[in-house]
Amino acid sequence: MNATLLVERVVVVTGAASGIGREIVFAMAGAGANVFAVDRDGRGLEETCSLAEGSSAVPLVLDLLEDGAEKRIVERAVDVWGGIDVLVNCAGVFPSSPALELADREWDLVLGLNLRAPFLLSQAVARHMVGAGRGGTIVNVASAAGAIARPGVAHYCASKAALIMLTKVLAIEWAEHDIRVNAVAPGLVETPGVGDLLTTEEGRREHEQKLAKIPMARAGQPREIAETVIFLTSDAASFITGHTLFADGGYSAGHTFRG
Ligand SMILES: NC(=O)c1ccc[n+]([C@@H]2O[C@H](COP(=O)([O-])OP(=O)(O)OC[C@H]3O[C@@H](n4cnc5c(N)ncnc54)[C@H](O)[C@@H]3O)[C@@H](O)[C@H]2O)c1
Repeated sequence: MNATLLVERVVVVTGAASGIGREIVFAMAGAGANVFAVDRDGRGLEETCSLAEGSSAVPLVLDLLEDGAEKRIVERAVDVWGGIDVLVNCAGVFPSSPALELADREWDLVLGLNLRAPFLLSQAVARHMVGAGRGGTIVNVASAAGAIARPGVAHYCASKAALIMLTKVLAIEWAEHDIRVNAVAPGLVETPGVGDLLTTEEGRREHEQKLAKIPMARAGQPREIAETVIFLTSDAASFITGHTLFADGGYSAGHTFRG
């Protein structure tokens, strides 16, 4: 990683205690950014911040579904670092239930965390950026499942498809304020969250079926998604906004006949 790519930028990352979010913190700190790491998992968050090398990472333990979470994040980040230049909305959940059995509570949880929370936080951060008058950039961690339908995850697919569209609308509304808004859409990535799905025979079978559909014949590593986020937030992407970059080993391009 180029250690000067994001030097002295202030970056807020949600979902920072695990998986992709944790790697984004590592990559951002390695690129010289001052990171504000947010998650509800205090232990995981402390570990992320203590393992980050490069510039500093400061933890904020907070449940993104709590009322006013977005205001607390902005206030604390401004207190600690004096402003916010970059927001990465990474926290997300991906439970599965066939649509006929999907409970409304699970629907609300998935849409609440994967769509409503990133909108509210983007809005609060963008208000701060507009007030500060120095622009900024936002990256939403969507999913290939926001473009390619998958059975058993109607709520998840709907939340990520909506996040991709939200990314476009915010990009065109906020371009005049010099705020770029993009998304990264990972395919299957090896994270603790995905590991939790491998505890049952059915989960392991589904995992094998997913792998068989990926042209590059492997799952991605969190680091590969973090590098994509670094690109989108850096000046190397200064003319890119409203875009969703698929980092999925070719999954969204088409499926192979293997398996
Ligand atoms: N792993 C994959 O294959 C994959 C593929 C496509 C997209 N994604 C997306 O990437 C993102 C990260 O996924 P991951 O696999 O790293 O997951 P993960 O489960 O390893 O990490 C998710 C993090 O979000 C945090 N979180 C959950 N609910 C929260 C809440 N209410 N408030 C604050 N924090 C909360 C968790 O504590 C955890 O640290 C998600 O948005 C997911 O949809 C993952």
